Amino acid sequence: MKNFEQFLQDNLPTSQSIHPTYEKALQNMLLAGGKRFRPALLLGVVKAYNPLLLEGARHAAFAIELLHTYSLIHDDLPAMDDSPLRRGNPTLHVVFDEVTAILVGDALNTYSFEVLANAPFSDATRVKLIRELASNGGLNGMVLGQAIDCYFENQPLQVEDIKLLHTNKTAKLIAASLKMGAIIVGREDVGEKLYDFGIKLGLLFQIQDDILDVTQSSEEAGKLTNNDEDKNSFVTILGLEASVKEADALAEELTNAMNSFDTNLKTALAELLNKYINRHKN
Ligand code: IPE
Ligand code: IPE
Ligand code: MG
Ligand code: MG
Ligand code: MG
Repeated sequence: MKNFEQFLQDNLPTSQSIHPTYEKALQNMLLAGGKRFRPALLLGVVKAYNPLLLEGARHAAFAIELLHTYSLIHDDLPAMDDSPLRRGNPTLHVVFDEVTAILVGDALNTYSFEVLANAPFSDATRVKLIRELASNGGLNGMVLGQAIDCYFENQPLQVEDIKLLHTNKTAKLIAASLKMGAIIVGREDVGEKLYDFGIKLGLLFQIQDDILDVTQSSEEAGKLTNNDEDKNSFVTILGLEASVKEADALAEELTNAMNSFDTNLKTALAELLNKYINRHKN
């Protein structure tokens, strides 16, 4: 992901104005790092089917990371999860103030679509990518998930509804990352299958995140842990043991699905997928 990090550095949001801290705040959380899981998924698919398109694909990978980073900045706000730590750093509302964190989130959200609109693809491909990111990251995707997550604090949901919550707040963006890779290489047949795989992968990713909330220290996670007591997290509702069982079952299902991928796709993604599919076991 060295090339991706370089691309990110070269394309950071900038703004010269009379505002003394706005530009610094825009860049702060992007530069703090993170796992870059979603960009790696998109780039893995492109690498599998047409490595010549990798350079252009970085625009789309960056767009997803921008939208994801915005979602984290808003997720940490006092009105949402009220968290002082993210990516090993103090959150924006702590370093600057709440207004800054809200507005930086807004700016990264719209900048992600600006980046996609300027990406070096055909108009038709750009429209498809914009639609995919918007429909999975927006009102009936990540935002809906966050709305359900916050509305139902301290109101235990049934496990099927928690899966719906996790699918929206986390899985759809992960599924979109894979599908956007397939759109870039013109393999929409593969994209449909990868989207379904990505929904399960994303559900597992959020269950693991719920597990790590109770098994990792804030220092290890780089974010506030033990912070899900009021939430409909898998662990809060089902307990740790049942959550690990559910994660194990999904991990097995995903490993089997991965083993039936085209050879080139498996070669490009196996290392990344194996690492994340088994994340809760470490
Ligand atoms: C955190 O996402 C929010 C969830 C969907 C669980 P990541 O765990 O991918 O966060 P970063 O990007 O590595 O900081
Ligand atoms: C947030 O889920 C998912 C997002 C859409 C940002 P969490 O609230 O569990 O994420 P963390 O644990 O704060 O990273
Ligand atoms: Mg949250
Ligand atoms: Mg949170
Ligand atoms: Mg969490």
